[in-house]
Amino acid sequence: MNMIHAKDYQDMSRKAANIISAQITLKPNCVLGLATGSTPEGLYAELIRRYERGDLDFSLVSSVNLDEYRGLSPENEQSYRYFMQKNLFEHVNIRPEATFVPDGLDPDADHACARHEEAIRSLGGIDLQLLGLGNNGHIGFNEPDSVFEKETHCVNLTQSTIDANARFFSSKEDVPTQAYTMGIGTIMLAKKILVIVNGEKKADIVAKAFFGPVTPEVPASILQMHPDVTVVGDEAAFSKLPVNA
Ligand code: GLP
Repeated sequence: MNMIHAKDYQDMSRKAANIISAQITLKPNCVLGLATGSTPEGLYAELIRRYERGDLDFSLVSSVNLDEYRGLSPENEQSYRYFMQKNLFEHVNIRPEATFVPDGLDPDADHACARHEEAIRSLGGIDLQLLGLGNNGHIGFNEPDSVFEKETHCVNLTQSTIDANARFFSSKEDVPTQAYTMGIGTIMLAKKILVIVNGEKKADIVAKAFFGPVTPEVPASILQMHPDVTVVGDEAAFSKLPVNA
């Protein structure tokens, strides 16, 4: 695992943008696995700046998102499709038909999840998967569990995730209780993985996930077994790493 130390949030965003820019430049028709949450907002803003300067071209890029809330429409401001439109897609020249987010409005969970897996397979797999880290070690919406779930599936969100995400909704009752998410197996099949973490509140889980035992109780810990993982973190998020990490 490659740990890249960044000074602060802005530096983390810039360093992560360098990695994504290199991927797009080296393989213009690459498949990017994308993530939502507060952590990647600065990274997406940086990618938009580079596109506007003429340094990045998304015209051949495809993207697949990690997850979506079950029951939310693309127009719902809290949906992850909406987040991606506003934070990236509407500002760059990615083809709308080349962007895949699980369909939150498909009431048939098995169908929605199978379609997402099929989209990833038909694109030839993910070249670079971007990940944030949930406070409880979740990646995508793979919550702590007794097994690692393999493929895209429907999850019941834990109370801690509902609480953490309530800040985006007008009340805790409005937070959906289920989501469709890529599985751990889907994520692990990506050729490269880029994790971004910032802030003191992630320090404990960062140390546990990347330097603790590999267990489905800490879903991100499986990333220790992936051959090409880069973690970009700011000083606060890396403050509890073992010495020399
Ligand atoms: C959500 C998303 C995850 C994300 C996590 C962390 O639960 N499903 O993909 O990584 O939140 O969010 P944040 O970056 O806001 O800390």
